[in-house]
Amino acid sequence: SFGNRHHSRSLPPSPSGLSPVKPERCSDRFIPARAGARWHIDFNDATYNLNIYNSLMYQCLLRNELLGSEIDRLKDNQLEVQACAISYDLCFRHNDEVRFASENNVSHVYKYKAVTDPIQKLLRSPRKPMRKIPKVPFKVLDAPELQDDFYLNLVDWSSSNILSVGLGACVYLWSACTSQVTRLCDLGSEEDSVTSVNWNDRGNLVAVGTHKGYVQVWDALANKKIKQLEGHTARVGALAWNGEQLSSGSRDRIILQRDIRSASAVTPGNSDKKLAGHRQEVCGLKWSPDRQHLASGGNDNRLLVWNASTSSAYQHQPMQTYCEHLAAVKAIAWSPHQHGLLASGGGTADRCIRFWNTLTQQPLQCVDTGSQVCNLAWSKHASELVSTHGYSQNQILLWKYPSLKQVAKLTGHTYRVLYLATSPDGEAIVTGAGDETLRFWNVFSKSPSTKDSTSVLNLFTSIR
Ligand SMILES: *[C@@H]1O[C@H](CO)[C@@H](O)[C@H](O)[C@H]1NC(C)=O
Ligand SMILES: *[C@@H]1O[C@H](CO)[C@@H](O)[C@H](O)[C@H]1NC(C)=O
Repeated sequence: SFGNRHHSRSLPPSPSGLSPVKPERCSDRFIPARAGARWHIDFNDATYNLNIYNSLMYQCLLRNELLGSEIDRLKDNQLEVQACAISYDLCFRHNDEVRFASENNVSHVYKYKAVTDPIQKLLRSPRKPMRKIPKVPFKVLDAPELQDDFYLNLVDWSSSNILSVGLGACVYLWSACTSQVTRLCDLGSEEDSVTSVNWNDRGNLVAVGTHKGYVQVWDALANKKIKQLEGHTARVGALAWNGEQLSSGSRDRIILQRDIRSASAVTPGNSDKKLAGHRQEVCGLKWSPDRQHLASGGNDNRLLVWNASTSSAYQHQPMQTYCEHLAAVKAIAWSPHQHGLLASGGGTADRCIRFWNTLTQQPLQCVDTGSQVCNLAWSKHASELVSTHGYSQNQILLWKYPSLKQVAKLTGHTYRVLYLATSPDGEAIVTGAGDETLRFWNVFSKSPSTKDSTSVLNLFTSIR
């Protein structure tokens, strides 16, 4: 409850009259618990300021409520309001005590009331429960021999709710439903090791990339290898399915795209493609949700976008090339909400998450995260994304998009958080690191609570 306004028409005149109210006093009196909240209204010109302030605050609240903006700070020349919420709080909590200097001006009080009434109406709408993001994983699994190698992709979560994890020479499957663990394959006898795993959309096939450059396709249910594709001359660290097509990226700088239905296990099929655009190891590969574009990232600091409709079997010219990152691009994620929106993250020398409109080829936002970006994933349910990081904090960050406001920071891994996958229901993520653990976190809420933090009420929480 934010207090009622029944008495507001009879605001008592301030004993201090129109004399300027000291900002310190204001904050002492009304917002004692909010360390750091600044309050820079020029009280010497209070009437003028309050008019602007009211109108800005009103706009800000409406924008937050109706347009989903996340404004918690206003700037207008000399007038800086650190948070609209403060005045808001003052108006409704301390109704009888409001001490804006200009509120002692009776002609002003009515104006003031006029703009705040709609806000009060907004306030009366049912309050959405605040979203709590647990700071600890809900499950931790040991993952002995999980490699601490940035260029590998060793964890994936299937639509059938099974985790595949590459540990040394083996791939293990862990059922999220039954917690049952099975060993899918062991490349030890071939003196090979696992460098990537990726589930197909249906969740029945796992592709396994190897150190020697093979791409194996396994039937998970039958525990049976159905293909071993050759073609790469070095380790395969990135895999991405597109229907029956399987794209693989390698340290040999090549991306191969093969149809796993083709008759021969080893010789190229008709629709096979070779994409030779990177100048260094390929470490990130993601198909767009509409399956029209393949984004690839490499140790050459480049993010490339390939057009699936281009039919030539050999391509060295991607549809788009983005060179803004200053380090390897492993973290790549297409937005499931906004067509053509692509996010990418750079390694240690870069640390930035960048956003691209691949429809117009325009760079969008960029945020310096302060540490190596290892992986990225969007929420299926809200306009949020999670990033995992290496040097130096080994943390997991949850961001709102497009504001790029940091919603949560999760720590616990003692090595870089190199691996990331999202549960099929879109609510949980699993992270893996060289500390040989897999950690499961509830970061994405399924309920359409995206408005939580855009709600007018969150003006408070954002500054508390
Ligand atoms: C009171 O407010 C009115 C309207 O905003 C203004 O014209 C007037 O000068 C103010 N009076 C004082 C004493 O500030
Ligand atoms: C993709 O390639 C197809 C076939 O060459 C072409 O028609 C289409 O315009 C291309 N799309 C883009 C976005 O360049």
